[in-house]
Amino acid sequence: MNQLNKSHLLGIKELSEEEIQLIFETTDNFKDVLNRPIKKVPSLRDVTIANIFFENSTRTRLSFELAEKRLSADVINFSSSSSSVKKGETLLDTVNNILAMKVDMVVMRHSSPGASHFLAKHIKANIINAGDGTHEHPTQALLDTYSIRERLGSVAGKKVVIVGDILHSRVALSNIFALQKLGAEVMVCGPATLLPKHIEKLGVKVELDLRKALNWCDVANILRIQLERQKMSYFPSLREYALYYGVNMELLNSLDKEITILHPGPINRGIEITSQVADSKYAMILDQVENGVAIRMAVLYLLASSPAA
Ligand code: CP
Repeated sequence: MNQLNKSHLLGIKELSEEEIQLIFETTDNFKDVLNRPIKKVPSLRDVTIANIFFENSTRTRLSFELAEKRLSADVINFSSSSSSVKKGETLLDTVNNILAMKVDMVVMRHSSPGASHFLAKHIKANIINAGDGTHEHPTQALLDTYSIRERLGSVAGKKVVIVGDILHSRVALSNIFALQKLGAEVMVCGPATLLPKHIEKLGVKVELDLRKALNWCDVANILRIQLERQKMSYFPSLREYALYYGVNMELLNSLDKEITILHPGPINRGIEITSQVADSKYAMILDQVENGVAIRMAVLYLLASSPAA
């Protein structure tokens, strides 16, 4: 396989294992490019990309913008907080106005699950989902699993636990799909109130005890508490959450083995992870961010060869 045969990246659910492996092989090539003195290639010259963000972002927005610029695309950026959305313009009108400026690809983050699927049905441009509410965040899962492959040699056969606020997390769902497609065993761990009902139907193990979960796994992907998406109180206090579900160095040192720690960011130091762990040799947090640029270059490059019909 040497192309994706897809015009959009809306979720990991729609990707096959072969397609994920193709993205990884293409990422390997772009990582080589990013380590050269001249980091820019002409692959997307004359392609115009709009990054439209209806929700806050640091890593994803900057990483996409840098990936696009490294590929020599023309880039425009849109942030809803400083746009005419504030005057009542709809999502479709906003995007159609952007497309009237002859845009080829749209990278969108939106708080509504399914927003990128809606766009893909209604407009003629390649759509990349940069996070849609509590649904999916496909490039995050690609960069997470790529980082596991980089450190541990492969994803197949590895045991990965996703810890924390699974209920409100798009990163968790995309990671579950990606890890399973690549042959990993997946567990979720957190307070019962932050685990979706019937999550085991996705084929994941469920563990409420953090120590047991960490003793089982090779890799722990730690999520933050997504207070901005919570409509009620799911646990007594952040202090109590940190006591039972915070990953600290004493806990890691008491395990039978060394494990690898991932975190998609932004991290809340002292809540789900201590500074000592976040800044330790076990953590891949900044490697994940570095890999994110190459992953996004690969996704943009592969989708650009299948223009939207
Ligand atoms: N991991 C992630 O999506 O971070 P941002 O919200 O900063 O983009």
